[in-house]
Formats: sequence, structure tokens, C-alpha cells
Amino acid sequence: MKIAVLKERAAGETRVAATPETVKKFIGLGAEVAIERGAGEQAAIPDEAFADAGASFGDAGATVKDADIVLGVQAPDASLLAGAKPGAWVAALFNPFENAALVEDYAKAGFEALSMEFMPRITRAQSMDVLSSQSNLAGYKAVLAAADTYGRAFPMMMTAAGTVQAAKLFVMGVGVAGLQAIATGRRLGAQVSATDVRSATREQIESLGAKAIFVEEVEGIEGEGSGGYATEMSDEYKAAQAKLVSEHIAKQDIVITTALIPGRAAPRLISDEQIATMKPGSVIFDLAAPQGGNVEGTVADEMVVKHGVAIIGYSNTPAQLPADASALFARNHFNFLNAFWDAEAGRPELDEEIGDAVRLTKGGEVVNERLKG
Ligand code: NAI
Repeated sequence: MKIAVLKERAAGETRVAATPETVKKFIGLGAEVAIERGAGEQAAIPDEAFADAGASFGDAGATVKDADIVLGVQAPDASLLAGAKPGAWVAALFNPFENAALVEDYAKAGFEALSMEFMPRITRAQSMDVLSSQSNLAGYKAVLAAADTYGRAFPMMMTAAGTVQAAKLFVMGVGVAGLQAIATGRRLGAQVSATDVRSATREQIESLGAKAIFVEEVEGIEGEGSGGYATEMSDEYKAAQAKLVSEHIAKQDIVITTALIPGRAAPRLISDEQIATMKPGSVIFDLAAPQGGNVEGTVADEMVVKHGVAIIGYSNTPAQLPADASALFARNHFNFLNAFWDAEAGRPELDEEIGDAVRLTKGGEVVNERLKG
């Protein structure tokens, strides 16, 4: 049973899908682990650390040769996998709704593509969920990046030369990233407020010491939406939300947006007109930039200044924290395979609930229900 880990090839990708810790654990299960030379370099993991953990090394071809399972952060081109065993599993981020051609290539090549972003949101899969682990770090980094651009301090400071006012930080979308953004903003001394369409988040916002700003006159999503995700809101709700945001945003110094709806473009939460009401020097960090952005005018990986307000959005925020992002991603991969490890077969056997959710291709076909309709 051979597990292979390639060097990531996507532009700007700094993460790696295994760490010495997970290599050791896989070897403990009886697997052999091969790593492409230099795979951990950008995440501060030298080849020697992988070697000490028991991994073997080679170029891409030697690494995937006869592999049963290939682990990635972002799925490699299927052409890189020639030489892996027929029907080999490839567990990685596929961005399946955007990458139909890649998914087709995997089907044609006969591999089983396992899409880590399709991990179901059920309690037993929490430790396997890369979207959570990476969003958590992204929420933290977004606040740091905004603080770095902001020409003022976050905490209130009483000095002999006068008082520095605390920054006002507003978080829109309180999922995993938003909760971490609230906590990080609070730690840095900002006055934090936050909003979401899911009313369950009100208590979470308040428990972190932030102020909840909610649309009151129109119903949001009570409890959790399907799988904890939000859905598209009614036009009436959107109008009420736009009004609320307009009133609130003019008083904010920093806005972090994180709102996502699975399988769709990110909802537009802030218009150019609303940006114009903010104070010059304010900063918006748009964490939804890779999905089209929550903010009008966001350009991924660039800082744009509109009406004196800086708008920032990275296309890959977790990659800005390569060491921790890799450590968590690698553990998610290990937890996933370990949970299904069949000691007798010496390899994992997925069950229906999780297997059918994450499997995109099998036996030459695209098999995932979410990609069929
Ligand atoms: P997400 O990344 O899909 O979306 C971020 C946030 O944006 C969500 O809170 C969503 O409600 C909000 N949002 C969407 N449209 C909006 C709009 N128009 N205006 C304002 N906010 C909007 O969500 P994420 O971070 O993945 O988590 C959502 C929920 O799922 C959380 O409650 C989390 O605890 C739960 N979850 C459970 C997991 C499990 O049980 N395995 C794993 C991951 C998350």
C-alpha cells in the first residue's frame, strides 16, 4: 500500500499535503510513503525531516509510480499521475464545480477523485474537514492583513500625547473564518461587531464578546441551513440587509467579509456606493475573493483603493500561513484515511455516507450526485 505526496504545482500554493507527523502515522498503519523531493520546502519542512519520518524520495514520476493513494492540497493534473496504480485514489481539493475538465480527466484516466471540499458536515467528519481547518487560519490571517494595511492602531491607547481610539471592526459572515476573525480582532483590541443570515450565529458572536448586527424585520435562516450552510436569501431579505449594512458600515474602520453559499458565486454584500460612505483609510478584506468576492471591486491578490478605502482579497489566504495550514491539512487527510483503515486489507475502505459524498469519479465515470444535476 503506497501513499504518494507530490509537490504542489498551482501558482501561489505553498502548502503540502503531508508532514513528518502524518508520514510517521501512515507508516505506523503499515503504509509506505513516497514524497516528491522539495514538496515541503515552502512550508518549512525540509526533505530530511520527511526522510527521518521514514518517507522515500524521488521525482514526480518515481513518487507516484505504483501508488495506491495520492494526497494533494490542490489536485494535480491527471497527466502527472501516469504510473499510479489503475483506480488509484487521489484525495485533494478539486474545486469540482469550477473544474469540470479536470474531473473528466480523472474519470478518463480511471482514478478515483476524492474531493476534500465535499466532506459532509457531520460530527464524525469534523476532524477530516479541510474547509474548516483552512478557513480558521484564513479568518485569522485576514485580520492581520487588514491591520497591516490600516494606517491606525487596533487597540485603544491612552498616551501622554493623547488617546488613540480603538478600531471598529465588522465581520460579515460568521462561519468558521468569521468566528476566528472576530476572536482575532478582539485579541488585537478592536471593537468588533458581526452579522450573518443564520440566526444560530447570534449567540456565537455574543459569546466571543462582539456585538451582533442582524436583520430583524425579515426572517433569516433559523437554526442551521442544510449541513450548516447558508442558502440564497429572498430579495426582501437582501434589501433589508443592504439597508442595515449601509447604516452600519459608514461607522466601521475594518470590514472582513467571509460569506459563501456552496456551489454558487459569493453573495454580493457591499456595493461601491456603500464603500463611498466609509471613512478614508478604512480597510476591507474580502475572504470570498476566490469565489468572486462579497465586495464590489475586489481584485484577487491585489489591493485596490476605492473612495480612499483599501480593498484586499487573496486568492489563497491559507497559503499565507504555509506551515500551520499544511499541518492541519495533513492531519485532515490522515484522520480521513485512518477512520476507514481496514487493518486486514491494509488499506482504507470508505463507507457510503462519506465515500459517496467525496467521490467524484470511479470506473471511468463521473459518479458524484452533486455534479450530475
Ligand atoms: P461558509 O464558508 O459556507 O460561509 C461563511 C458564512 O457566511 C456562513 O456562516 C454563512 O451563513 C454566511 N453567509 C452566507 N450568505 C450570507 C449573506 N448573504 N450575508 C451574511 N452572511 C452570509 O460557512 P462555514 O464557515 O463553512 O460554516 C458554516 C457552519 O457550518 C458553521 O455553523 C460551522 O460550525 C458549521 N460547520 C460544521 C462542520 C461539521 O460539523 N463537520 C464543518 C464545518 C462547518
